[in-house]
Amino acid sequence: MKVLTTLFVTGVLGLSLSAQEVDPGTASGAILDLTKLLSYADQRVPGGINRDNTPLNNPITDAGATLGRVLFYDRSLSRNGSISCASCHQQEHAFGDPARASTGVAGTTGRHSMRLVNARFSTERRFFWDERAPSLEAQTTEPIQDHIEMGFSGGDGDPDFSALVSRIAKLELYQVLFTAVYGSPEVTEVRLQRALAQFVRSIQSFDSKYDEGLSSAPNPNANFVNFTAQENLGKRLFTDPPGPGAGCAICHRPPTFDIDPNSGHNGVIASLGGGTDLTNTRAPSLRDLVDRNGVPHGPFMHDGSKSTLLEVINHYNAIPGITPGLDPRLAGPPPRPGTPPGAGQRLNLSEAEKEALVAFLGTLTGKSIYTDEKWSSPFDAKNQLSFVVLPATAKVDAGSGRLVLRARGVPRVTYLLRSSTELGGWNEGIEITANADGELIHELAEGSRRGFFSFVYRPAE
Ligand code: HEC
Ligand code: HEC
Repeated sequence: MKVLTTLFVTGVLGLSLSAQEVDPGTASGAILDLTKLLSYADQRVPGGINRDNTPLNNPITDAGATLGRVLFYDRSLSRNGSISCASCHQQEHAFGDPARASTGVAGTTGRHSMRLVNARFSTERRFFWDERAPSLEAQTTEPIQDHIEMGFSGGDGDPDFSALVSRIAKLELYQVLFTAVYGSPEVTEVRLQRALAQFVRSIQSFDSKYDEGLSSAPNPNANFVNFTAQENLGKRLFTDPPGPGAGCAICHRPPTFDIDPNSGHNGVIASLGGGTDLTNTRAPSLRDLVDRNGVPHGPFMHDGSKSTLLEVINHYNAIPGITPGLDPRLAGPPPRPGTPPGAGQRLNLSEAEKEALVAFLGTLTGKSIYTDEKWSSPFDAKNQLSFVVLPATAKVDAGSGRLVLRARGVPRVTYLLRSSTELGGWNEGIEITANADGELIHELAEGSRRGFFSFVYRPAE
């Protein structure tokens, strides 16, 4: 038997169980330890980050985001079991997709996938390039109901969303997880949305060169001591209005670099599938556009039409045309001297200034987002979880004086109570089936040796 993360029963009064890591190095398989949740709720956010779209009724909790993480990486959320959210939102690419169009269960998407970085830290509460989702919660079940993406659309021969809900509800793993998180196994659209939104909101990136510089600067407009001259020039151009600068900050607002909620479209009006699309007025945060080496995580804009940051800058340097819905701030000042009739702003940036802007955008790339375990797949290579360790309590029964272990399980589902005397060898465990109320109770025989106990759910292979 594999060594497991454990619960340690202390020998003092007011007995409690506390989690202790044994030796993760020897633990194989994917273990989801609900007694030792990774930290999602209490992540450090630097001072000065004040924008936050978390609704009052869905704050991030460690348990909720953990459930969200499992759902995010689970391919069972797609019609044919082949696609998860993470197929198109890949951690190593700042939760975006290097492909111009992403592959779903029935073809490729009509827009480029969006990076999910600091989605929480914006005043814009609407999501998608065209802002059609009224909240992040509402957004999270849209891909599941999309015919191309995950295939529970209810049309085009697809099952509808209720089929997905009953599929998830039938999976014993989710009965265990929903019970642990929500107190009962019911799967509902709202519960799925809340958990997924908590996970997405938890994905944050504030450990970039820019954050480092900002933390020691007297004000955001001062030169940052950790920046090169080129990066500082790029920062100034990004911030200053068109003329002296490039006017980017008016729409992509530092220090979050979230989109101005009142932005129109930016003149990128082609549709991936051909034709025109004037509806795209949102961009994800401009953080983590490129990796540590400056390589883009994927092409930019809703149609993925710009494959480098230089192409992006060239677009703003000469907005091709004034089209309905173009943000007036990109039309250029009237009478726009030097601008051909019908064309938008001309920034007249030099090549050195363009390169400075590219260099500055590179400073917005963080580190932990790409590797932190809490945002990684909880599943093993076979796409399975091997164990779920449950929170439990231990109390001395006043009548018998015996130690009683309890945990919240799913009615009539069998768990293993495993024990160890010295945290080394674990026994095979004894099977304990939750009663009709879902209680897992085990009374230790009098005089049994104190040791380490852990209630574990082991999903069927
Ligand atoms: C087949 C690829 C694909 C899958 C699967 C997918 N997405 Fe997306 N995601 C996209 C694309 C493409 C967009 C942009 C679509 C648009 O704006 O029309 C997007 C946009 C988003 C956004 C909006 C971000 C923003 O800043 O506005 C969020 C949030 C998101 N996806 C979360 C999820 C979640 C959660 C799942 C799983 C339930 C998921 N996605 C599954 C491709 C995918
Ligand atoms: C008037 C508002 C506005 C201004 C000013 C503006 N942008 Fe944008 N930006 C947008 C919108 C809206 C989008 C999303 C457009 C789309 O994909 O169709 C966007 C998209 C982007 C993207 C692509 C993001 C991604 O995830 O693919 C980058 C990069 C970008 N802008 C950089 C800049 C830079 C650099 C400047 C200054 C030279 C700038 N923007 C000025 C509104 C603006």
